[in-house]
Amino acid sequence: LTRGTAAADLAGLHVVVSAGGTREPIDPVRYIGNRSSGKQGYALAATAVARGARVTLVAANTSLPDPAGVDVVRVATTAQLRDAVRAAARNADVVVMAAAVADFRPAEPAESKIKKADDSSAPEIRLVQNPHVLRELGHSRIRPGQTVVGFAAETGDAHGTWLEHGRAKRAKYGVDLLVVNEVGVDLTFGADHSAAVLISADGSEEPVGDGPKERLADVIWDRVLKVRTRTD
Ligand code: CTP
Ligand code: CA
Repeated sequence: LTRGTAAADLAGLHVVVSAGGTREPIDPVRYIGNRSSGKQGYALAATAVARGARVTLVAANTSLPDPAGVDVVRVATTAQLRDAVRAAARNADVVVMAAAVADFRPAEPAESKIKKADDSSAPEIRLVQNPHVLRELGHSRIRPGQTVVGFAAETGDAHGTWLEHGRAKRAKYGVDLLVVNEVGVDLTFGADHSAAVLISADGSEEPVGDGPKERLADVIWDRVLKVRTRTD
C-alpha cells in the first residue's frame, strides 16, 4: 500500500497538531527553551494531509518549511501555544500534542536586558509552572468525541522504566493515546528516526520499531482511526 494510491482514510477529519518547542522569556533577548526540532509534528501534519485530513499545525519555534496544504499557526511561548491549540481544537476531531512544552517559565521576565554585575554574582531566576495543555484537553474535552493524543519523552529511573512512566502518564492525563519515546542524549532529539510504543486507553500497547518519523506518523494515524471506531 503506497501513500500515493492509498485511500484518503482521514478525509472529513480536522486534525490539530502541535510541533516544536516552546520558549519562555527571561528578558528580551534570552529564553528557556528545549531541544525539540519539530520534525515529528511536521511529519504528522504532512502525513495527515496526504491521507485527506484538514490540518492545523501549531508550530513553536521551528525552522522547517511549512508542509504543503497545512494551515500553520506560529507561536513562541506556552501561553501562546495553549491559546492557539485550544482555539483550533474547538472544531477539531483529533488533537495531537507533539510539541515539547516548557514545564516552567520565569515568574517575572525582565523588561530590559539583564546586565551582569561587576562582582562575580549572578541573578536568581524564579520559575513557576506552566499550564498543562494536554492534561486540560484530556480531562475536559473541548468537543465531545474528540480524540486526544499525547507524547511522552521518558527515561527510566529509580521509580520505574520509561514504559512504566508512559503508562502512568497516559492515565494521569486522561488521553486516548500516548506515544512514548525513550529519550537520552543521543536518542530522538533532532534525529530523523525514533522508536516508540503507542499506549491506548484500553491498555493495548503497540511497539513501533525504529524508522523514519513519517512512518511513526502513519502508524499513529492508523491507531487514531482504530481508537475512534471503537468509541464512536
Ligand atoms: N505537555 C503539555 N503542557 C505542558 C507540558 C507538557 O501539553 N505544560 C504535553 C506535551 O506536549 C506532551 C505531553 O504533555 O504531549 C508529555 O510531555 P512530557 O514533557 O513528556 O511530560 P510532562 O507531562 O511535562 O511530565 P514531566 O516532564 O514532568 O515528566
Ligand atoms: Ca515536561
